[in-house]
Amino acid sequence: PTSMTDRVVTPGRAEDDAQYEAGLRPRAIDDYIGQDTIRQNLEVSIAAARGRHEALDHVLLYGPPGLGKTTLAYVIGNEMGVSVRATAGPVIEKAGDLAAMLTNLQAHEVLFIDEIHRMAPVIEEILYPGMEDYELDIMIGSGPGARSVKVPLQKFTLIGATTRAGLLSAPLRARFGITHRLDFYEEQDITEIVRRSARILGVELDGDAAGELSRRSRGTPRIANRLLRRVRDYAEVRADGRVTLAVAQSALTLLEVDDHGFDEVDRRLLRTIIDKFGGGPVGVNTIAAA
Ligand code: ADE
Repeated sequence: PTSMTDRVVTPGRAEDDAQYEAGLRPRAIDDYIGQDTIRQNLEVSIAAARGRHEALDHVLLYGPPGLGKTTLAYVIGNEMGVSVRATAGPVIEKAGDLAAMLTNLQAHEVLFIDEIHRMAPVIEEILYPGMEDYELDIMIGSGPGARSVKVPLQKFTLIGATTRAGLLSAPLRARFGITHRLDFYEEQDITEIVRRSARILGVELDGDAAGELSRRSRGTPRIANRLLRRVRDYAEVRADGRVTLAVAQSALTLLEVDDHGFDEVDRRLLRTIIDKFGGGPVGVNTIAAA
């Protein structure tokens, strides 16, 4: 797809995602399933910004992993008709790295920063004037002769994603005009997502098998798509390639994914809380020690 050419992904992270999820990611907002309220709000924000020929206001997306924050960032870029430059908080090592990304942005383009809560504070501060006034404050020299120069930036959109909104500093959080919290998906939305993924992957997936995968995916599209790939493997090797309910159930049994989508480690964790700590509450350090 053409999208691959205008994606700049900082090495380090994102490669897993790119490799395993990119093909399944919806590009258009109409193809994005679930999260109805967020989708509608974004449709309004995007249409309004486009109508005024402005950059979209900065967007903060937060919520548990695997629910589509990165996907939404690319959908927003696509709907705004602009490229998305992607990076992640932990891989920005020097203030200059971020300054270079910001000064290279074209008008209305999207800078996507995943795990934005893991950005170093000195780097984060570069963003403040960038987001608020579309300019960079750069110090030249040091000591009494130091002076600061302002470098103008194009009007851009920062999209930040985080699993932990509470870890963002208050000044950073305050600079996002649009904030959305993604929640776990309804079972029927996940069913629709795996059916769409199966179509894209060319997998024959029965309706009740789709429902079974959905029930065991804990409301998380990333898990659903991963189970779909594993079940497809099983269907090709142990059956005729078609994913029927029986094939899906056998595959998931072999994968030790139970009716609730828990794997062996999840079950041991829960059993520890129930058996050793009377059902909790118990702190994570104590669980780790156990
Ligand atoms: N793949 C992953 N998340 C999705 C979503 N919300 N809609 C459609 N496809 C998806």
